[in-house]
Amino acid sequence: MTESRSSSHEVLVVCPPGLEALVVGELTELGVKHTRSEKGGVTCSLTTRQLYAANRSLRCATRILVRIARFTVRSFADLERRVNEIEWDDYLPAGVQARFRVTTRRSKLWHDKAVEERFMRGFKLVSPHASEQLFVVRGSHDRFTVSVDSSGAPLHERGWRQALAKAPLRESVAAGLLMASDWDPTTPFIDPFCGSGTLAIEAALRASGQLPGGQRTFAFQEWPDFQPGTWASVTAAQSPPNLSVPAMVATDRDAGAIEAAQANAERAGVADLIDFRVAPIADLQTPEGGPGHLVTNPPWGGRVSAERDLRNLYATLGNVGKKQLNGWGLGVLLADRELARQVRPGLSETLSLELGGQHAWFMTGKFAD
Ligand SMILES: C[S@@+](CC[C@H](N)C(=O)[O-])C[C@H]1O[C@@H](n2cnc3c(N)ncnc32)[C@H](O)[C@@H]1O
Repeated sequence: MTESRSSSHEVLVVCPPGLEALVVGELTELGVKHTRSEKGGVTCSLTTRQLYAANRSLRCATRILVRIARFTVRSFADLERRVNEIEWDDYLPAGVQARFRVTTRRSKLWHDKAVEERFMRGFKLVSPHASEQLFVVRGSHDRFTVSVDSSGAPLHERGWRQALAKAPLRESVAAGLLMASDWDPTTPFIDPFCGSGTLAIEAALRASGQLPGGQRTFAFQEWPDFQPGTWASVTAAQSPPNLSVPAMVATDRDAGAIEAAQANAERAGVADLIDFRVAPIADLQTPEGGPGHLVTNPPWGGRVSAERDLRNLYATLGNVGKKQLNGWGLGVLLADRELARQVRPGLSETLSLELGGQHAWFMTGKFAD
């Protein structure tokens, strides 16, 4: 049955696999009570206000899909009938092109392209340059759900990251690492392998109380039933930025990376809050006001530094931390858990992630003598 429009929306909050528990925590902070996690997403029910607020404020999410229909079909004739029952106009302003992403498993209608074609049939091609509204169709054991994407560009595209260094982290993953490290945003922050600055910029945005989606627009703002009053109340509820943030240091031995990181920080409006420096890990300078946290994504080998002695690099991080950062919290994202021992013995495996097809672990602990 096609679901009626209401102020309660069944949603799937899509996120990088491994960050589901953090997304549940963020939704709970927005007042959402019942959530259910699955790999790569969290389902829950949101009011229109919460849907708008979640798009603007979830730091670890990729997109928010709103379910608009659910049915069981085993023939194309039945599928076509169900497709015709959906009130597409609620989500498609004039001139916007519908785009469908279809995945099926263990269903009689198993041919994704043929299913997509049945959805596309009712829509004329608007223009090759028209903006698009994404619909996601999932079929499993003949049960199909149709969802509309309320986000538009993925939520990790905050709008500020244009300059890239080697092997950049997604902004949502960086935000997740900061949350999982238990860093207190009133205390100092260091990333000594900062690359394009993703972790430090996400840290500065959080410490200064700025929302990840504060600088961008969302697909739902184009929907014919968009509620400007509700949106205005969501944007007005944001507290002014906190200008007294703790010391934040981002260093990298590569001058090009620091240049990229600074340009990104400018666009994010946090360049004044971060002390960027070209420096190798061995020359790390400890900021005042600690202890705080060092959270970092050192080279993993292969992609970034095929011939470097990674063990020595990780051991240098451990030695510098031991000498200069006694009592500081530590979070390291790595692909090889053996290397974690070079930094410090006894680190905990806090997150297990899939990043660009590679397994990664986020190990956390404390520096001590
Ligand atoms: C995986 S990348 C970090 C990517 C970063 N998290 C981002 O989102 O862009 C690792 C970084 O470590 C830097 N690096 C490698 N060896 C270093 C060393 N000995 N001291 C400081 N930085 C180093 C590289 O230049 C590279 O930018």
